Amino acid sequence: MEFRPLGRTSESIPEIGMGTWGMGGGMHADSSRDSEAVEALKLGLDLGMTHVDTAEMYGAGHSEEVVAKALEDWGKPVFVASKVSPSHFAYEDLLRSARQSLDRLERKQMDLYQLHWPNPRIPLTQTMKAMERLVRDGLVRYIGVSNFSVAQMREAQAALSKEEIVSNQAEYSPVDRGVEEEILPYCEREKLTLIAYSPLGQGRVVRGQGGPFKVLDEIAARLGKSRSQVGLNWLLQHESVVVIPKASDKQHVRENAGASGWSLSAKDSRAIDSAFQ
Ligand SMILES: NC(=O)c1ccc[n+]([C@@H]2O[C@H](COP(=O)([O-])OP(=O)(O)OC[C@H]3O[C@@H](n4cnc5c(N)ncnc54)[C@H](OP(=O)(O)O)[C@@H]3O)[C@@H](O)[C@H]2O)c1
Repeated sequence: MEFRPLGRTSESIPEIGMGTWGMGGGMHADSSRDSEAVEALKLGLDLGMTHVDTAEMYGAGHSEEVVAKALEDWGKPVFVASKVSPSHFAYEDLLRSARQSLDRLERKQMDLYQLHWPNPRIPLTQTMKAMERLVRDGLVRYIGVSNFSVAQMREAQAALSKEEIVSNQAEYSPVDRGVEEEILPYCEREKLTLIAYSPLGQGRVVRGQGGPFKVLDEIAARLGKSRSQVGLNWLLQHESVVVIPKASDKQHVRENAGASGWSLSAKDSRAIDSAFQ
């Protein structure tokens, strides 16, 4: 597994991490498929996908408990990222959310704590004061945002007095390239990590038929890779990008890990680029 720098820090994180939306339930807790999720996450860790992304919102907190279970016997380094929901951006609410996430994760510290979506109703200065308090108290190592526009990233950074925003988690896949307009260039310029969520378009990249998908299949067949591997690797051509596909199926986990450690040729990258314009 190849690693990339996290923002401007000296930390590095794997270029392929693991998402957990749907593990431990969707909007509500559901433990019926916990063991499948735990096994998938454990396999992913073994394959080097040691950046695990969760959120207090996922499974109403139960996703964080699933992550804790997967990490129970994992004695090696891991980068655990969670997110606070916009309704908890007020100072005391945010501190409480972080403590509750840490309890569910069974950890003393989160590596990355992200504002899940912007919330224009609560001043960012208040929210960021709480984030910096968490860093000062050693409960959080790095501060990130998610679903923030460039203007909102600038505002978020300006609201911090000492710390730096290291990342923006945003949707990015061959079938959703909105970030390429402003967010990705800004992240590259400012040396922020763009954590690409739904990098397989929630499965659409793998299931899609005809047209552009034929281009992915032709390249995959020629290189002896899967379509998902080609799709994920294509996102990684940008140095500031890391990806966090979610996979509960062990075969999917193995395939996703295999998207690291090689690079598409410039010609193949261009072919995918024009196919998915
Ligand atoms: N910040 C945000 O607002 C936000 C929003 C959405 C997502 N996220 C994060 O990003 C993560 C990833 O996004 P996502 O879950 O929306 O979508 P995704 O990773 O693009 O796609 C997940 C779907 O693709 C399937 N899949 C995974 N690997 C595959 C492979 N190699 N071959 C075929 N199918 C494969 C999975 O099936 P199986 O599970 O059956 O393997 C699942 O149905 C989330 O889990 C979450 O952590 C963040």
